[in-house]
Amino acid sequence: MKEKFYITTPIYYPSANFHIGHCYTTIIADSIARYKRLTGYDVYYQTGTDEHGEKIEKKAREAGVTPKEYVDKIIEDAKDLWKSLNISYNYFIRTTDEDHVRRVQKIFKKLYDQGDIYKGTYEGLYCVPCESFWTESQASDGKCPDCGREVKLVSEEAYFFKLSKYQDRLVKYYDEHPDFILPLSRKNEMLNNFINPGLEDLCVSRTSFTWGIPVDFDPKHVVYVWVDALSNYITSLGYPEEDTLMKKYWPADLHLVGKEIVRFHVIIWPCMLMALDLPLPHQVFGHGWLKIDGGKISKSLGNYKDPREYIDSYGVDAVRYYALREVPFGSDGNFSEEALISRTNSDLANTLGNLVNRSITMSHKYFEGIVSNPKVTEDVDNDLISSVLALKDIVEAKMNSLKVNEAIEEIMEVLRSCNKYIDETTPWTLAKDESKKDRLATVLYNLLESIRICAILLSPFIPDTSKKILDELNTKETSYESISNFGALETGLNLNEPTILFQRIEAK
Ligand code: MSP
Repeated sequence: MKEKFYITTPIYYPSANFHIGHCYTTIIADSIARYKRLTGYDVYYQTGTDEHGEKIEKKAREAGVTPKEYVDKIIEDAKDLWKSLNISYNYFIRTTDEDHVRRVQKIFKKLYDQGDIYKGTYEGLYCVPCESFWTESQASDGKCPDCGREVKLVSEEAYFFKLSKYQDRLVKYYDEHPDFILPLSRKNEMLNNFINPGLEDLCVSRTSFTWGIPVDFDPKHVVYVWVDALSNYITSLGYPEEDTLMKKYWPADLHLVGKEIVRFHVIIWPCMLMALDLPLPHQVFGHGWLKIDGGKISKSLGNYKDPREYIDSYGVDAVRYYALREVPFGSDGNFSEEALISRTNSDLANTLGNLVNRSITMSHKYFEGIVSNPKVTEDVDNDLISSVLALKDIVEAKMNSLKVNEAIEEIMEVLRSCNKYIDETTPWTLAKDESKKDRLATVLYNLLESIRICAILLSPFIPDTSKKILDELNTKETSYESISNFGALETGLNLNEPTILFQRIEAK
């Protein structure tokens, strides 16, 4: 039986159309999901939308529509965006889905019945845009510590979740699972800023607005949006009503999130799971932010385009590649169209595109596109072959430690050495000498075989391009297993005509 791998993105707020920052998380999660599928895992990749809360209610009111009408439009657009980015999610959850709503109500009731949720009065500060509660000391200047906007004083009857009860077990879990929170700096931040000062019970219901999941046994309350949202990772698997998918996929292997919401995923979420007596996720990775001109990507600043404009101009794989390659995973990075263009030109057009085009063109020119391997080898071949064969394990190690940008760079490095191999073996000189014909065929075989192996390894990152290359090669050897065998590329193959994979883009 295949090993399972359950990976999630945050469920995004559909308060406005998604931007390149949302694409960033979703593309990375997609490439990890695709990589795991390629290497034989039974993958469940989930994304979705977090549709309740005061912020959305307010946005809808401003737009003069109902909250549901408001979010429906954005979700339709989001699904279209994910389609244009080739996002291979297995499930898209909406927190307005009936199943989710009913299951959250059951979770809330279960926690109430067992005494983990109790009724009290909430008095404190609330940040509406972040949907988060703060104590006086945390927001001492009246500003939200996360986003810097004004917090407001709220006082309302509310239900509370006994977060404090789980503090010791939580710290023990961190200690026993050193990879639970990555990068490590984020774990220290959680301990120092939130856990060690002492966890307070969490307010988990609101009464001052209605756009949320009603507490079914006390319907003037709606469930706190983060409890509603975090539950998505299990309600989608049927919890607490059905256990087939839960048994198959839970616990999650990787919750991929932006660094600003690590806190919810490594404090509130594990404590909820402990209360529900469910196993905790294996890992939460908090990645850095993509910025524009060093600052926030923001609708109010109007500093970003619809990501589909980049796809239309440069192609889906140029956008995916840029998101995956440009920023060391875990750090902040800057998004710019100039950098996207320059990355596309250098790596995709020059290194990859040229190599494939030159190799297939020469095969047509010298051998009518028919692949043969007379094995007239020279020393220079060995370096190339061993670097291509080493790639599988190197990429695996990088991907297992989520160094996606480095995994890709390793593949690029091998592609560069293929281009160097062309310069060293000078096929055009060999072609002038009839006695070197078999050597020439061997050189071209080595190139085509290296390209095949790299194309398979590139498939999680730039799936369309990988497919185009394998189609040009016309090979049936496209499995992951086949990349351990340099020589699997079939002889006697009829190569298809080469295409231009990436046009060089003129800088603007
Ligand atoms: N709804 C909550 C998440 C609930 S998960 C149970 C939420 N939504 S959000 O719409 O604000 O999305 C935040 C997430 O979007 C970030 O954690 C990150 O994954 C992604 N990003 C949004 N802007 C981003 C950047 N500028 N850069 C990188 N990622 C960004 O929080």
